[in-house]
Amino acid sequence: MASLTVLTALVCATLAAGGAAGVRVELTRIHSHPGLTASQFVRDALRRDMHRHNARRLAMSGTVSAPTRKSSPGGGEYLMTLAIGTPPLSYPAIADTGSDLIWTQCAPCGGQCFKQPTPLYNPASSTTFGVLPCNSSLSMCAGALAGAPPPPQGCACTYNYTYGTGWTAGVQRSETFTFGSSPADQTRVSGIAFGCSNASSDDFSGSSGLVGLGRGSLSLVSQLDAGRFSYCLTPFQDTRSTSTLFLGPSASLDGTGVHSTPFVASPAMAPMSTYYYLNLKGISLGTTALSIPPNAFSLNADGTGGLIIDSGTTITSLVDAAYQQVRAAVVSLVTLPTTMDGSAATGLDLCFALPSPTSAPPAMPSMTLHFDGADMVLPADNYMILDSGVWCLAMQNQTNGAMSTLGNYQQQNIHILYDVGRETLSFAPTKCSTL
Ligand SMILES: *[C@@H]1O[C@H](CO)[C@@H](O)[C@H](O)[C@H]1NC(C)=O
Ligand SMILES: *[C@@H]1O[C@H](CO)[C@@H](O)[C@H](O)[C@H]1NC(C)=O
Ligand SMILES: *[C@@H]1O[C@H](CO)[C@@H](O)[C@H](O)[C@H]1NC(C)=O
Ligand SMILES: *[C@@H]1O[C@H](CO)[C@@H](O)[C@H](O)[C@H]1NC(C)=O
Repeated sequence: MASLTVLTALVCATLAAGGAAGVRVELTRIHSHPGLTASQFVRDALRRDMHRHNARRLAMSGTVSAPTRKSSPGGGEYLMTLAIGTPPLSYPAIADTGSDLIWTQCAPCGGQCFKQPTPLYNPASSTTFGVLPCNSSLSMCAGALAGAPPPPQGCACTYNYTYGTGWTAGVQRSETFTFGSSPADQTRVSGIAFGCSNASSDDFSGSSGLVGLGRGSLSLVSQLDAGRFSYCLTPFQDTRSTSTLFLGPSASLDGTGVHSTPFVASPAMAPMSTYYYLNLKGISLGTTALSIPPNAFSLNADGTGGLIIDSGTTITSLVDAAYQQVRAAVVSLVTLPTTMDGSAATGLDLCFALPSPTSAPPAMPSMTLHFDGADMVLPADNYMILDSGVWCLAMQNQTNGAMSTLGNYQQQNIHILYDVGRETLSFAPTKCSTL
């Protein structure tokens, strides 16, 4: 989810620091949530989709990993499991390449915390909890401090981080985090700046917080100086499988079928400076190249436009000039009637009615995203979504000239490596549940 704005304030309030090694996190999918339907997840996703240094280099041998899974079928996010504090308290957090802040809910919550699946983290119960000094380069209030006389003691910085309609507010702190699913590959990293939230909106997909993996200094990638990371998103309907998010040297992708494309340099201004931009040159459906204006996905000098890849956004959005071509191409191949009811239920623009709720949808060719030097092939299951008799294009449009986003629905079963050091995105079709 792309971050929209951050409001910060200084509060007067000392410090913890430490070293680091490599990071490994598993991605899983939570169990089916009886009350949530695919339509709800799409609507939630649409609502939320839109945004939201003193790095220690991971030792060359080190790795940080996290088990990662899809949130419930009703949720549109992928959750990574990590642990906070000492003793470590494990919790699932949305893995989000579209924002930077790492946060979890902290006790006490004053009644404004959302219901989370794991016990609430209580700073008072952790021996490694620390205050982030206000002159830390990771303080979100550092800008506010410029020119002001330095406070006598350390300060804490309060924030309100906004993602589309969702938001989270609290105080910046410092803690030791533990990564890895088994004791053998566990890595503890101290002195990570994070957000201790005590008030949030209620739409974080069954998580207990979020981990920003963007380009900004507050992200986990930057704080670990990981250099690169990879993930592989298990299929949306697969609520049991787990895959692994790797940060640092162990994030790698080799063998056949690997394609690489350079990132486009991000604008210097926030929030665009957080995002990973790609050069999308065209789209084909089957063997047909769609007639999309050549500059449809260009990033403009003023920071508008462009296309980003975002693990925290569910549904891909394309500028209208491109979207309408995709839509027309899909319509030309499908003989089923379109349904406005389906659109109303899912929030998606193009839906077809299947003969019965149990009917299988017709076969569709793959869609190819032609990135600079690399084709990403999306099977029908990566761009069409099935929900009890309604079959919809899992894409939406965006005002021409606005930013387009490649969402996580389109990234299922693709192993994706963000090589931040080499400024390259690499990917290969992969059955993520076997990775
Ligand atoms: C959250 O923490 C801030 C800073 O300590 C405080 O001002 C605010 O009242 C707290 N809000 C709630 C809902 O507890
Ligand atoms: C931050 O402030 C503390 C106390 O005011 C001071 O000792 C320390 O040198 C400062 N650090 C930086 C990086 O300015
Ligand atoms: C944070 O910002 C959102 C959006 O502006 C607002 O609705 C919410 O009340 C704010 N929360 C706090 C605790 O200030
Ligand atoms: C999105 O597409 C719909 C129809 O497909 C159109 O009515 C709407 O104006 C478009 N929105 C934008 C922002 O272009």
